[in-house]
Amino acid sequence: MDSARSRDSARLDRFLAHAMGISRTDGQRLVRRGHVTVDGELASNPSAHVSKTAFVEVNGKEVALPGRTVLVFHKPAGFISATRDERERTVIDALPRDLAPALTCELLLVGRLDKDATGLLILTNDGALVHRLTHPKRHVPRTYALTWEGTLVPDAVARVQAGLPIDEGDVCLPAELVIDDANHGHMTMHQGMFHQVKRMIAALGGVVTRLHRISFGPIVLGDLPQGAVRILTEAEVATLLASAVPAA
Ligand code: URA
Repeated sequence: MDSARSRDSARLDRFLAHAMGISRTDGQRLVRRGHVTVDGELASNPSAHVSKTAFVEVNGKEVALPGRTVLVFHKPAGFISATRDERERTVIDALPRDLAPALTCELLLVGRLDKDATGLLILTNDGALVHRLTHPKRHVPRTYALTWEGTLVPDAVARVQAGLPIDEGDVCLPAELVIDDANHGHMTMHQGMFHQVKRMIAALGGVVTRLHRISFGPIVLGDLPQGAVRILTEAEVATLLASAVPAA
């Protein structure tokens, strides 16, 4: 099969052959000898179909189909986190013009940033990677630099650390709030509920006026200029995946 990626699923032995550059027979052997897991489960049937978003590992190391690209993008404000929209400009519209159109139209978002938020957004053409990094049972730490108006409650840091109840009955996982001064700080959290940081700061008495993501797992925005992208190396992707640890 020439393009396992372009289908919704592929036979496991074909997937392995395509991803690892080995024969299907060798792929079958790896499965039968118990070297292969799919989404964390030991695989036993080489002809079973695996979905496009399955996470396949051989001896505990991820194997990905060739052609995977993972980008870090410095999102400017004013663009929504979607790949297409009838009315609003999306982050795809904000990407540099010189990115290959064939890649651009395949890109998926790893999580979201609000329209008014800025900073680090990861994009990839690998659905399995998106699934792995955004699965609610896998907690990738992400850090935001924040500015807020208003005065936070005195025990804001402790409340965030304890697991903050916010609106609509949601209770956040324990997170870390570092207060730099009366209106600035950093929040590191391990989940990504809708408008979560803004809702957390609201529950503490403030209103977020600037939200800027500076890291996602081990990947940091650094001095990447706004509107620019950087392609992650395979080594960086491996560290990113390693940060997506299953919840305790
Ligand atoms: N939390 C928010 O409130 N907004 C974002 O864009 C990301 C996290």
